[in-house]
Amino acid sequence: MRATVLPQYGEPERLVVAELPAPAPAPGQILVRTAASAVNPVDLAVRSGSAAEYVKLPFPMVLGWDLSGVVEALGEGVTRFAVGDRVVAMSAQMATGIGTHAELVALDAAIAAPAPQGADLVHAAALPLAGLTADQALEVLGAESGSSLLVTGAVGAVGGFAVQLAAARGIRVTALVRPGDEELARSLGASEVLTSDRPLPEGVVDALFETAGYAGAIAAVRDGGRAVSIVPAAAPQAERGIEVKMSFVEQDGERLTKLSGLVESGTLTLRVADVLDFADAALAHKRLGAGGTRGKLLLASLTAN
Ligand SMILES: NC(=O)c1ccc[n+]([C@@H]2O[C@H](COP(=O)([O-])OP(=O)(O)OC[C@H]3O[C@@H](n4cnc5c(N)ncnc54)[C@H](OP(=O)(O)O)[C@@H]3O)[C@@H](O)[C@H]2O)c1
Repeated sequence: MRATVLPQYGEPERLVVAELPAPAPAPGQILVRTAASAVNPVDLAVRSGSAAEYVKLPFPMVLGWDLSGVVEALGEGVTRFAVGDRVVAMSAQMATGIGTHAELVALDAAIAAPAPQGADLVHAAALPLAGLTADQALEVLGAESGSSLLVTGAVGAVGGFAVQLAAARGIRVTALVRPGDEELARSLGASEVLTSDRPLPEGVVDALFETAGYAGAIAAVRDGGRAVSIVPAAAPQAERGIEVKMSFVEQDGERLTKLSGLVESGTLTLRVADVLDFADAALAHKRLGAGGTRGKLLLASLTAN
């Protein structure tokens, strides 16, 4: 099978397509024929070596966390899925070494979920990492219905899901976006929109969900409010009695099943910036690194249908 491999840390051009032995599903695993994977900021950090102190994996590595595809074989003891099922999954590649930029991926059935019915299977790869990150961080934050929440990077992959999930729970969302993204933020469910070219109002929201690396956004939170950040390099400093927590995404097939259902019901929209060829991982890394993508960049496998 073909996979995109990283032989050494470096520039995007290091990523090359290679022929690797097909994996076999171990007990408890499913073998998935990939329809698409997505490129996430963490893939850029692993590829460049900037996350090297956390990556204890041998080269060559297969990168990629997001996956959509079709179950091709079952490991011993798997009953949740059947051959032919359409699935999505998030694999914590940096910790486990199981990357999704491959035509066949064997992973634990417990971290997979049914793909949203009615959704394009390629587009379904936009859901797992960003959706799980948003949902888990909202839980860490503990924001309640009727409260107000500022989401920074609100039209980004995680921020966009955070806005949709929070609005669906009756939370009043203020979105912080770049100028020009105001309408997009409103279409996701933000009731108010602020732009990053203007000073932030101070003390106006109950809570902050920080996805843009904009630590100063904590100024918008009222005294004694709450904040959660998913960007450790720019963690907001606790001030004025505000509780600040960090959230790190975890594999979770049950939660992903719930999120898949929210796509089916129309509560969550799959936002796709572009679908590139499986072999174009380097191009996807360059485009994501340049900023300005709105929605996920997907890598579609040629053998998928
Ligand atoms: N802790 C975790 O488990 C976890 C999980 C997923 C992601 N993350 C991190 O979370 C961050 C967001 O990830 P993502 O996938 O959502 O990335 P993304 O799709 O690129 O979204 C980030 C958004 O923030 C915007 N932004 C950045 N700086 C801004 C500023 N000063 N003012 C206004 N908007 C700004 C970006 O706009 P431009 O594109 O125009 O710059 C983009 O819309 C990344 O740092 C990623 O590494 C952490």
